[in-house]
Amino acid sequence: FMGEIELKDLVVIITGAGGGLGRQYALSFASRGAKVVVNDLGGTLGGSGTSTKAADVVVDEIRKDGGTAVANYDNVVTNPDGIVRTAVEAFGTVHVLINNAGILKDAAFKNMTEKQFLDVLDVHLNGAFKLTKLCWPLFRQQKFGRIIMTTSPAGLYGNFGQTNYSAAKMGLVGLAETLAKEGAKYNIKANAIAPLAKSRMTETVMPPDVLKKLLPEKVAPLVLYLSSRGCNCSGCIFEVAAGLFAQIRWERSGGLLLKPDESLTPEAILSKFSQVTDFTNAQYPTQLNDYNSLLEQAKKLPPNDQGSTRISSLKDKVV
Ligand code: NAI
Repeated sequence: FMGEIELKDLVVIITGAGGGLGRQYALSFASRGAKVVVNDLGGTLGGSGTSTKAADVVVDEIRKDGGTAVANYDNVVTNPDGIVRTAVEAFGTVHVLINNAGILKDAAFKNMTEKQFLDVLDVHLNGAFKLTKLCWPLFRQQKFGRIIMTTSPAGLYGNFGQTNYSAAKMGLVGLAETLAKEGAKYNIKANAIAPLAKSRMTETVMPPDVLKKLLPEKVAPLVLYLSSRGCNCSGCIFEVAAGLFAQIRWERSGGLLLKPDESLTPEAILSKFSQVTDFTNAQYPTQLNDYNSLLEQAKKLPPNDQGSTRISSLKDKVV
């Protein structure tokens, strides 16, 4: 039928695919005829230990159903090359990269050690960077690539006890947004998903009746769509859970414009702060260099608050 998602023969790397969300992605891709690299180092939620079992079990499951998959046990941080090598040796290239591997080292900021902070950044952000960097030349050369970054509501909104995790997750959003711009002319699309799903990551922090509604099966369809040849968005962020699929975007308030002279004071900000935070005439910026829209927005503000000198000097600076 019209609009069918075609994934047959796409080579897909899924990091951390030995359990939880990654496992479900692997099964879903394989059921559509994709060739899957099931990467997982098989460690604990906190990132310690290794085992080949996690990846092997998923690969067996796929093969039993007649699908195509190969296991890889490398650490995304210390041996990302091994993961890409597995894909190229088994299937010739990489078309889709799902950066999904993750660990948690939660602690209130007061108690968070530098090691806890950097370890979490390493797996989520640096691991995704390293794999993307290795796949990028293949994507450019074949003029096709799909990248999914796994961000989190904790990254988008913040969450108590997760400064390391939120920082890493928000870093992945920036990575996707910029890769989308740099990859556009090579048909490389990069998007970020913020899922909520039942896995060992959430099992101990959410009640069973809620978890029941949050099966990983309810997240996978979006990941498959974003990986498909016909996917028409890039640089986007989606929240996905319990069968709900929703885009998240940036919103800039109408804003407050102060005159360049005597009114450009912190007191003026104080007295007009409600204007700074008033989203009635909001804009939805999608790029850095649309300063023109920022200046247009400034021009639209009431004459009283408008400082023309300020506008032209800002423009001079940006240009
Ligand atoms: P999970 O713990 O079941 O899956 C993560 C997998 O990554 C594990 O199998 C683990 O062995 C593997 N892994 C960890 N470090 C690795 C490394 N250095 N190299 C290779 N593999 C490694 O948890 P879940 O929930 O399936 O998480 C998947 C992704 O989704 C993570 O990035 C997580 O942060 C993210 N996420 C999950 C949410 C949820 O509600 N479950 C919420 C928001 C984000």
